[in-house]
Amino acid sequence: MNVPVKPKFIETDLDAIADFEGKVAVFISPKGQIGLAARRVNRLMKRSLTRLAETQLFEDMPNASCHVMSMPAGMKATEVLVIKMPKRVTVDDARLAGANLGKAAGGANLLILNGAGKCASEIAFGFALRQYSFHDHKTSDAPKQGNITVMANQAEEVARDYAPKSAIAEGVFFTRDLVNEPANILTTTEFAKRLEALKSIGLKITTLEEKDMEKLGMHSLLGVGHGSPSPSKIVIMEWDGGGDEQPFALVGKGVVFDTGGISIKPAAGMEEMTMDMGGAGVVAGVMKTLALRKAKANVVGLVGLVENMPDGNAQRPGDVVKSMKGDTIEVINTDAEGRLVLADVLWYAQETYKPTGMINLATLTGAIIIGLGHENAGVFSNNDELSRKFIKAATVEREGAWRMPLDKAYDKLIDSRIADIKNTGGRAAGSITAAQFLQRFVKEDMPWIHLDIAGVALIKSETTLAPKGATGWGVRALNRLIADHYETD
Ligand code: BES
Ligand code: MN
Ligand code: ZN
Repeated sequence: MNVPVKPKFIETDLDAIADFEGKVAVFISPKGQIGLAARRVNRLMKRSLTRLAETQLFEDMPNASCHVMSMPAGMKATEVLVIKMPKRVTVDDARLAGANLGKAAGGANLLILNGAGKCASEIAFGFALRQYSFHDHKTSDAPKQGNITVMANQAEEVARDYAPKSAIAEGVFFTRDLVNEPANILTTTEFAKRLEALKSIGLKITTLEEKDMEKLGMHSLLGVGHGSPSPSKIVIMEWDGGGDEQPFALVGKGVVFDTGGISIKPAAGMEEMTMDMGGAGVVAGVMKTLALRKAKANVVGLVGLVENMPDGNAQRPGDVVKSMKGDTIEVINTDAEGRLVLADVLWYAQETYKPTGMINLATLTGAIIIGLGHENAGVFSNNDELSRKFIKAATVEREGAWRMPLDKAYDKLIDSRIADIKNTGGRAAGSITAAQFLQRFVKEDMPWIHLDIAGVALIKSETTLAPKGATGWGVRALNRLIADHYETD
C-alpha cells in the first residue's frame, strides 16, 4: 500500500533555516518580492535570490515553476528551490507549485518557507498527490519519499486546513493502487478483502456472494463471471455520517480483468484491461476519503466485482440473460460486459437503499476515448441540476468532465429481436448506446449520472498531479460534490 506523505506544519522560525539539512523551497513574486523567511535565505546566500529575480531566466519562468539553486552559501541545505509565485495565489498555482516541488525534491527532505502565503495547505496537497509511485512489484528499492515541513504563520490553522486534504490524498492513493494492481493479484476475492479492511476506519462493509446474487435474480451480472474461476461479488460500503436522510449512492464497474470473453479482444494492448475495475476503484477511494474525514453525509458505495474470461463455462454471444429488474438481455457481444454488471448493481442499489441520487463510474467504452481522448470523462445524466453540480465540482478540481447526450432516439439501436434489449448497438454512438442501456436500469425519477472514465482512469503520460499510470480521476470531484451539496452542518 502506498501512503501519501504527512506534511508537518510548524511556525515560522527564521533561525532554524540555516541549519536545515535537505532542500529549502522559497517563493518569489513575478515582481521579485519575497517574504520574511525568504529574505533570511537571501541574506544567507549573499543576495543570490535578488540577483536571480533580476534575470531574464526568472522573467521567463512560468508561474508555479521551480528553479534549482545548488549548494547555497551559508546554509546546510543542498539546494534552494525557487518557485515563482504570484502574490494572489490561485489553488491551481498552489497545487502545481506543490507538484513541481514534489518532483524537484527527488526524495530529499524538504522545508517549504511559506510565510504568510494563503495556500500553504494546497501546496502541500499538490506535493503529496504528485509524489505517488507504484513500486510494489519492482525488486529494487522503492524511490525514497522525503518528509515535508511547511514553515508557515499560523501553522495550526494551516494544519487544520490540511486535514481533509490528507483524507483525499489517502483516497486517491487507494484508488491508484487498486487500478495499477495487476489482475493476478487483484482478483475479485483480493479486491473484496481490501475493501473489507476499510472496516477499521468506520465503514460498514457487506459482501454479496454468487449464491446471494442468484437468489436476487442477478443473472445479468452473474453471466459475465461464468468463464472465470474467480467468484463474482458485490461489495457494499456504507458511510453514515449524516442524519437520517436516505443515502447518496456511488456505483462502480469492477471488472478485474476484461479479456472480452468469448468475443475476445485482440492481443495488442489487452494488458491494459487490468484497469477495467477503475470505476470500482474510484468508488472505493471516495468512500475511504469520506470515512477518514468523517464527512457529515450518508453515502453508500456499491461495486460489482467480476472477471470476464473465455472458458467452456463462459457466456456466449447470443445468450439471453434475465436481469434482477426482470428485463431480458440478448448478449450480442460478451465484450460489452460492463453494462451487464452495472445493470444489476444499479437496480439493487435503488431497490435496497432508495438513494436520493446515484452516480455510476465505469471504464465502459473505447468509444469515449475516441470522442474525448484522455482529457475528459463522459458525463451522461437524466438530471440537469445534478449534472451541473458535478461538472462544477470537477472543474474546480481540474478533473475533466464533459456532458454527453442521452436521448430516447438512440434506443432503437439496442432493440433486440428476441429479448427486451441487446447489449450492443454497433459502432455508431457507442458510448451513448451504452449509456442508454444503463438508463434502462435507472428509475424514472432518480437523479443519476453515468461517468464513462475509460479515457481518464489510467493515462500513459504524466499529468499535473499524477505520474504515468492510474490517476485517481474523480475522487476529488466526487468528494467535493458530497462536501458542497450532501453534507449537513
Ligand atoms: N472495458 C472495455 C472498454 C475500455 C476500452 C476501457 C479501452 C478502457 C480502455 C469495455 O468492456 C469494452 O470492451 N467495450 C467495448 C464495447 C463494444 C463491444 C460494444 C468497446 O468499447 O469496444
Ligand atoms: Mn469489454
Ligand atoms: Zn470492460
